[in-house]
Amino acid sequence: MAKKPSRQFVCRNCGTAYPKWVGQCEACGEWNTLEEETVEPLAASTASGAAKGRRIKLEGLDGIAKPPPRIETTIAEFDRVLGGGLVPASVVLVGGDPGIGKSTLLLQAACRLAGNGERVLYISGEEAVDQIRLRALRLGVGTTKLDLAASINVADIVSTLEAETDVKAVIIDSIQTMWLETVASAPGTVSQVRACAFELIRLAKRRGFSLILVGHVTKEGALAGPRVLEHMVDAVMYFEGDRGHQFRILRAAKNRFGATDEIGVFAMTDRGLEEVSNPSALFLAERRGNIAGSAVFAGLEGTRPVLLEVQALLSPKSGDGAPRRAVVGWDTGRLSMLLAVLETRCGLKLSGMDVYLNFAGGLKVVEPAADLAVAAALISAASGVPTSSGEVYFGEVGLSGEVRQVAQADARLKEAAKLGFDQATLPRRVARGSVRNKPPEGLALRELGHLSDLISADMDAE
Ligand code: TYD
Ligand code: MG
Repeated sequence: MAKKPSRQFVCRNCGTAYPKWVGQCEACGEWNTLEEETVEPLAASTASGAAKGRRIKLEGLDGIAKPPPRIETTIAEFDRVLGGGLVPASVVLVGGDPGIGKSTLLLQAACRLAGNGERVLYISGEEAVDQIRLRALRLGVGTTKLDLAASINVADIVSTLEAETDVKAVIIDSIQTMWLETVASAPGTVSQVRACAFELIRLAKRRGFSLILVGHVTKEGALAGPRVLEHMVDAVMYFEGDRGHQFRILRAAKNRFGATDEIGVFAMTDRGLEEVSNPSALFLAERRGNIAGSAVFAGLEGTRPVLLEVQALLSPKSGDGAPRRAVVGWDTGRLSMLLAVLETRCGLKLSGMDVYLNFAGGLKVVEPAADLAVAAALISAASGVPTSSGEVYFGEVGLSGEVRQVAQADARLKEAAKLGFDQATLPRRVARGSVRNKPPEGLALRELGHLSDLISADMDAE
């Protein structure tokens, strides 16, 4: 019984498949992202179960499991996010908006690896070899021994790599430009992107090199996004940042060989990306103390403490209708909740005000621990009394206004002390056992049980 190829519709953004065309993808909510795809039927023999597979060996959990060997790029911020370096025969997907600096980062990493004596191939489907050379020159890495190629043909790339024996890492920039003759659709479509990635991944696993795929995040347009590949690769990192800002953050979204909450911080300069080993200093560099509506949040990114400035601006409601709530770098829902708590539990009148909130520096904060710092900024904006310029805040705020414990208080306090802050406002600490950890030298602690304590204290500071 010969099966005809059937058709299905696949979302370019998230890869969900539908039997019929629909206007909006139910899985990711995007509009007009479905594209038609032909599904080849499975070969008759495998489908009917007639083909005999080999018997696989089953093993127990209690064997010796060695940690995977790593190839360090020696770019510390990159290695940290990778979980300690590249793992041979693994596949990393680096996603990000066009122009954010993916090619720059990977060219720098490739040159560093090549400089350390590893054989690295950088294959670009977007730029000509000369363009890459020029960029390398500008980055000051033009002399490194790196193998370059400009190609979009996966069959050619596979043949080339089959003939090489000592390749340690291969970078494909970008997967959306790659093309396989055997797939009857244009580069960048879901079927092409998946098929090309599949070929390259299979080769990487077989030949034992680490493969880095670049994938552009596309909001609109006809390119399949990196999300359609997330399940096929070992690690997914997103390179983020605001193009108006210098900072770039590499964040792991999935990592089979490491933690997913680590970040790498870089600054884009005219000589490429520079590592930022002390992000707090950078994020606070432009802070002006003693301005009402600003507070410093002692946050945590992965295992790393990071101090950030949060700014709030209140202005009388403009026009009819609901007041504006504009937020950069934080969750709008969380802000509404905090405003409601301030209003209901602490008697701060904010409902007639437009509220603007901004985490400076372009970092997106997701920790609930930021509640207390945001509250401090809002209270300060409402009262016109600046928070003390030597003070940091952290703590979660509950619906009844109670201030709750957050993880890693000690790491946050240490970072604050290191950067010269002298006071910290934090949740009332519960003594673990009978001893409490001593705060770092030079840091006075103000422990709060309820948000209203913050209002009375900060407003009285006048
Ligand atoms: P690029 O790495 O090409 O971005 P992507 O590969 O993610 O699309 O980076 C492009 C931007 O980076 C470009 O707008 C210029 C800027 N840039 C610098 O500021 N300094 C540099 O040294 C380089 C190479 C690029
Ligand atoms: Mg690029």
